[in-house]
This record gives sequence, C-alpha cells and structure tokens, in this order.
Amino acid sequence: MTTVIDRIGLLVTNDPAVGAGTAELRDAAVFIDDGTIVWIGDAGRAPHADERIDARGGCVIPGFVDSHSHLMFAGDRADEFEFRMAGRPYTAGGIRRTVGLTRAATDDELRANAQRLRAEMRAQGTTTVEIKSGYGLTIDDESRALRIAREITPETTYLGAHVVPAEFADDPAGYVDLVTGAMLDAAAPHARWIDVFCETGAFDVDQARAILTAGQAVGLGARVHAGQLGESAGVQLAVELGAASVDHCTFLSDADVDALAHSSTVATLLPGVEFSTRQPYPNARRLLDAGATVALACDCNPGSSFTSSMAFCIAVAVRDMGMTPAEALWAATAGGAAALQRTDIGRIAVGARADLVVLDAPSYVHFAYRPGVPIVKRVLAA
Ligand code: NIG
Ligand code: FE
Repeated sequence: MTTVIDRIGLLVTNDPAVGAGTAELRDAAVFIDDGTIVWIGDAGRAPHADERIDARGGCVIPGFVDSHSHLMFAGDRADEFEFRMAGRPYTAGGIRRTVGLTRAATDDELRANAQRLRAEMRAQGTTTVEIKSGYGLTIDDESRALRIAREITPETTYLGAHVVPAEFADDPAGYVDLVTGAMLDAAAPHARWIDVFCETGAFDVDQARAILTAGQAVGLGARVHAGQLGESAGVQLAVELGAASVDHCTFLSDADVDALAHSSTVATLLPGVEFSTRQPYPNARRLLDAGATVALACDCNPGSSFTSSMAFCIAVAVRDMGMTPAEALWAATAGGAAALQRTDIGRIAVGARADLVVLDAPSYVHFAYRPGVPIVKRVLAA
C-alpha cells in the first residue's frame, strides 16, 4: 500500500540533515510505502500512489510523541481538582485513592479506559505514547497494568515506585525491597523503562537510586519524576545514572540546569500539571538557553493532569513558558522521541515511520494562536 500526501504548504521535518530545529520545507509532498516514508520532494512531483491525500496548502507535522502518561488507572478525581481551584494544594497522597480504585477494577475495565484515552490522543495527533504502571503497587497489579499497556504501546514503564502504598506505611524500606525484588521480576518482562517519583511524600534520592539501579541491572532504561513540588536531588541523580529523561523539572537549581545541559538526559516539561495544580509553570527558556534538550508531554493521569491534548500543552508552553512555537512543536515531537531514545519517530525523513499529522491550518503556530480549536485534520500512523 502506497500513499502520497501532496500540496503540503509547510512541512515540518525535524530532520537535522535538512536544517536546525523544525527544519521546515515549503510546497512539499511525502510518499509513503507500507508505513515508511520513502520519498520527500516538491509538491506535484511525487510518484503515483494507491492513495492520494491533498493537504490543500496546509501544514504537515510529525505525529506527536507523548513520552509521559499514566493511562493504567480506574476512576476520576475531579473533586480534588475542584478543591485545588478553590486554593487547596496538590499532594502526592491523592495517588493512593486511584490505587484503591485501580486494584478493584477488572482487566477489561482497565483496558477499555486506557484504550479510550489512547484513541482520544490519536485523534488529536499523538502517534506514540509511553504508558506507566504505578496505580497497582502489588506484584500482580503492577504486572497486569504493564501487560495490558503492552497491548497498546512498546513504550511501557514500570512505576512500582509511585508512592508507598498504605499497607507499607510503617515499612517503606520493605516496600523498596519489594519494588526492587519480586515486583521488578514480575514487571520487567512487560516493561522497557523503570521510573520513580523522587519527591517529598514519595521516594527520597537514596531510595530512588536503589530502585533505578535495580531496574538498570535487569536491562530497563531509567526515567525519573523530579522537581515537581520543589527542588529535588532526583534531577542530578537522573543525569548521574544516564536516565533517558527527567520529568516535571518545575523547580530546578542552577546546578540542575547545568547538569542537564551537559548531559544526554532530556528535561521533559508537563504543563498540564501546573495548569491543574495552580503551580508556577516551568521555565523552558532557562533550559533551552543553557543548551538542554527539552520535551513536552501531557502526563495524562487522573490526579495532576487529566489532559490528552498535546496541542494544549504547546499552547501553554508558548504562552507561559518562554518557548517559541517552533521550539514547542519540536519538543512535542522530536523532543519526545529523544526522551524515548527513538530515532524512527518524531521526524519526517526518508526511512522514518510514517507517523504524520495533516493540519487544517497553514502553520503549527495555530496550535497556540488558536488555542482549544481542533486543527488536526488527519492522522496517519504506521
Ligand atoms: O506525574 N507525580 C507523580 N505522578 C503523577 C501524578 C499522579 C496522581 O496524582 O495521581 C504525575 O504528576
Ligand atoms: Fe507522571
């Protein structure tokens, strides 16, 4: 099966061979063979294909790569959001509420909820999603979350270290032993990554180090939640351990920014969290000016950020985090790919996966310029 997308007014390639950053081409066409991009050239010059999509002068971008989500859960916490809007602060403890509801759900209920959210993301242009466990916190509940998540994506993350569950409240060290022992053994066959919430109310830096190194020892890549509620030693731990990404990064010291800038660890910013918790937004400009690689992700979860819309995150990043529209678009595509250490996605280049989004707009600037408006016209996913 071959497809051509023709009459593309503006093509975002993110291809370093074409240029820096979004590396844009004008009046282009893209030819796809069996889910792979095989030709990029001038509009009107593509070979004949089985299917022809007319972009009508609109913009085409790589599919969004959402490198941070928590889709394996049951229930909803809209009441907490309402309280926060009335002035109550966010705390990590709310996670335990979702843990209770998730444990009580059937496999089919968990699967249906995650698939519904995945479909919601896809319709809005997200073609790759990472999915974490972390609302089970028993051997069986964590491994089943990852097993079901694997049906949806290869980018699955074991987050047994989300919080210490209530039954281990008096024995956090015993819970860390479980997370790094029998639970890891059950989770690892279904996971590519291991993650830890390194924050007040969750796990400290020594616990986080033990958890991440145990995961790395069985072949999982490291990712870290840090700097959400205050500065955290978790940021430099992530750099030290060569984590693919450290996520949130709302509160960073100058030394944290410097460490990120001189590392391959991506700083993943999650503006939906600050929106939904009424916290200050992270300063993307500070990270970019220092030379760090920045990704944007939705962090879709029922507690701190129940959005599946990368367009929303881009709009906030442009409006309130000091990113240009091009930097925000890059962060939501190529940045997410970097955070997942993938080179086959997040760019439109010969040999890449044919994950593309056709916009009903002349430019991706419209994600921020027309906030909340559904400008995604067509999503192609290999
Ligand atoms: O990434 N920060 C930790 N975990 C989620 C929140 C989970 C919840 O509140 O249910 C996050 O923000
Ligand atoms: Fe998260």
